[in-house]
Amino acid sequence: MGSVRNVAVFGAYGHTGRFVVAELRERGYVPLLLGRDQDKLLALAQAWPGLEARRASAEDPASLDRALDGAVAVINCAGPFATTAAPLVEAALRAGIPYVDVAAEIEANLDTFDHFAERARAAGALVIPAMAFYGGLGDLLVTTAMGDWTAADEAHIAYGLSSWHPTAGTLASGTVSGQRRGGRRVRYTSGRLEYHDDALPTLEWPFPAPLGPQSVIGEFTMADVVTVPSHLAVPEVRTYMTAKAAADLSAPDASAPAAVDGRGRSAQTFVVDVLVRSGGKERRVAAAGQDIYAISAPLAVEAVDRILTGRTRTTGVASAGAAFDAPDFLRALSSHLSLHVPLDTAG
Ligand SMILES: NC(=O)c1ccc[n+]([C@@H]2O[C@H](COP(=O)([O-])OP(=O)(O)OC[C@H]3O[C@@H](n4cnc5c(N)ncnc54)[C@H](OP(=O)(O)O)[C@@H]3O)[C@@H](O)[C@H]2O)c1
Repeated sequence: MGSVRNVAVFGAYGHTGRFVVAELRERGYVPLLLGRDQDKLLALAQAWPGLEARRASAEDPASLDRALDGAVAVINCAGPFATTAAPLVEAALRAGIPYVDVAAEIEANLDTFDHFAERARAAGALVIPAMAFYGGLGDLLVTTAMGDWTAADEAHIAYGLSSWHPTAGTLASGTVSGQRRGGRRVRYTSGRLEYHDDALPTLEWPFPAPLGPQSVIGEFTMADVVTVPSHLAVPEVRTYMTAKAAADLSAPDASAPAAVDGRGRSAQTFVVDVLVRSGGKERRVAAAGQDIYAISAPLAVEAVDRILTGRTRTTGVASAGAAFDAPDFLRALSSHLSLHVPLDTAG
């Protein structure tokens, strides 16, 4: 028997899943700890006395149905999502509950839109892929920067990461995405995804103070190229990554994030700087914070809270910017994110 506060977390013992479990608890929800490994689940349940652990496998629909019994929503933190997203969305639709994931895999995010848009809409259900740092935050910032514009010529999303110590899940997802695109690169231009083999350009991006100008890799394409065009008419969506963080990610000896504070956050800091252009006008907004994995938890949990309290704008498969009041959503995260809206470019 579930409670109206039971939110299932698939992949609960992963690095991001643990942040999500902690955030749900802080927000007064009762996380159901879901995953495929019984020993890891039991170890996690020992760390969180009183929480229920339920073993479930993406390959076994009946186990997912049992695991979601009594849950009011599910947050999928188990990646690679090429394997887990579709079975979990199917299970959420069977259970009649909203589905949110933290996937940063372009192809998996596209699959969620392509395969489930009609069924989710017909069921009046909400399915939100990429409700995390990549894909979610960028889309909320672009939507906020757009303001009353319904279309723009270009959207640029520059990631100013101080460093990037990737988790095993990030590396595995990168490998799966790379295989799915046959080792090719991808960018979003002329209103569509384009696969190519061009070298990635290095340029300087003028991040707001105190970070200031940084060397970035251009066309470092992230999930925002799925989420932003899913609801905004912007034919050019470009994403950039600080060269230092890009080098960290691809280093052969890349190490996992190390906790430096009581919340388990690493020392990594980020600025996400968004610039949209339309007819010669520019609008800009940026957000800064600490630890891209940790910030994904308040993003996903805020989304669930808004869905469960009826503060949504649509049904079906939707990105963060389409599903929610983007500026209001970002303001609600003020204890995790500092927003920067320069007056000289607003208008
Ligand atoms: N969009 C974003 O900004 C964002 C932010 C954070 C994380 N993510 C993504 O979230 C995923 C998890 O990241 P993480 O940092 O939590 O990595 P992690 O610490 O390595 O955890 C990965 C989790 O996924 C589970 N998992 C993997 N394959 C599974 C499968 N086939 N069935 C069931 N569970 C499976 C793992 O369980 P086992 O230990 O049993 O394998 C583990 O719980 C990655 O894909 C990452 O890219 C995206």
